[in-house]
Amino acid sequence: MTQPGLSTRAVHGLPGRLPDWAPVVPPIVQSATFTFPVGSDEEVLYTRYGNNPTVKAVGDKYAALEGAEAGIAVSSGMAATALAHLAVLRPGDHLLASRWIYGGTERLFQDEFGRLGIEVTYVDPDQVRQWRKLARASTRAIFVETPNNPLTRVLDLGPIAQVAKERGYALLVDATFASPVNFRPIEHGADVVISSATKYLNGHSDVIAGCVAGDVTLIEEVTRLMRLWGQALDPHAAWLLDRGMRTLDVRVARHNANGMAVAEWASRHPAIARVHYPGLETHPDHEVAARTLDGFGGMVGLELAGGVPAAERFLRRLRLVSHAPSLGGVESLVSEPRNTSHKAIGAEGRAALGIPDGFIRLSCGIEDAGDIIADLEQALGG
Ligand SMILES: Cc1ncc(COP(=O)(O)O)c(C=O)c1O
Repeated sequence: MTQPGLSTRAVHGLPGRLPDWAPVVPPIVQSATFTFPVGSDEEVLYTRYGNNPTVKAVGDKYAALEGAEAGIAVSSGMAATALAHLAVLRPGDHLLASRWIYGGTERLFQDEFGRLGIEVTYVDPDQVRQWRKLARASTRAIFVETPNNPLTRVLDLGPIAQVAKERGYALLVDATFASPVNFRPIEHGADVVISSATKYLNGHSDVIAGCVAGDVTLIEEVTRLMRLWGQALDPHAAWLLDRGMRTLDVRVARHNANGMAVAEWASRHPAIARVHYPGLETHPDHEVAARTLDGFGGMVGLELAGGVPAAERFLRRLRLVSHAPSLGGVESLVSEPRNTSHKAIGAEGRAALGIPDGFIRLSCGIEDAGDIIADLEQALGG
């Protein structure tokens, strides 16, 4: 059978005929432990081991969506990032990381990796030569995030994958903002793909989860580490994640349409000084985005002309769009990186990244675009 389409994989994983009398919806196996034959040498089933059938199935489905050999679902996006890196790095190793990353990931590298003897050097990913220039003999891996939080910068993975391949580094990519509907990093030369499944994959803002996909050896190592460090996903959360993933393709199509509609409206609004959206020709990476992404996504960055006071006033006046961290759910959410995703790196850190205070990160939900825009418009109004 030829590879089924992405939406089919999102509904069924890799489909096969169900036996008679089977439930159409996979049941939740909400059990911490499982019986096993007396005297057996086989691996026991225990939910912390990641071999609970409900949890395993959702990891397999993620691999099918990313076009990877294997996948695993874990207890958060941060767990996915931490375990994926620990699977490829050892004390004494050096990591080259993009400077344009989620603040929580940057904190993990800064506060924890040093303690583990893993050094991290940050690279300006728009200066492709830096990947080679800043490498060391001990470099083992490259980490990038694309499109990035919150600026929606889109990286051309091709040249970065080339460096990784030439030098034998593992290339890890956090593609949370895209979801596998809009971008599948493995098709562009990545070895490991990481997602916060809390966001688009689940899509309903009711689960914290993360996923990692890559080759079988990598996923075996992530699984081994997860068993020891303890970030297994609960079966109920896995079941909800699977339910969310079934509608991923249609949801993301609507997020893409709404993102574009909101970005176009915002770019014409006099109270908005700058709009960050890769679908707009004014975006610095529009050409890369148009060439490599299957959709521009639902994330829009807004800089209001009036700075922080205007941003706070705007946020207080919103009715439909809720002021909350996180993104990628069916409902539109808005937040400021200065007190959420990029709080920990401080004002200087944000300024260096080009995130001014007063920057607003909007996650366009799947409501009617006209209603989202009407709410934004009234909140900006006089
Ligand atoms: C790009 C990106 N990666 C990883 C994470 C961490 O995910 P989680 O909150 O599921 O741990 C986030 C959270 O906002 C994110 O935006």
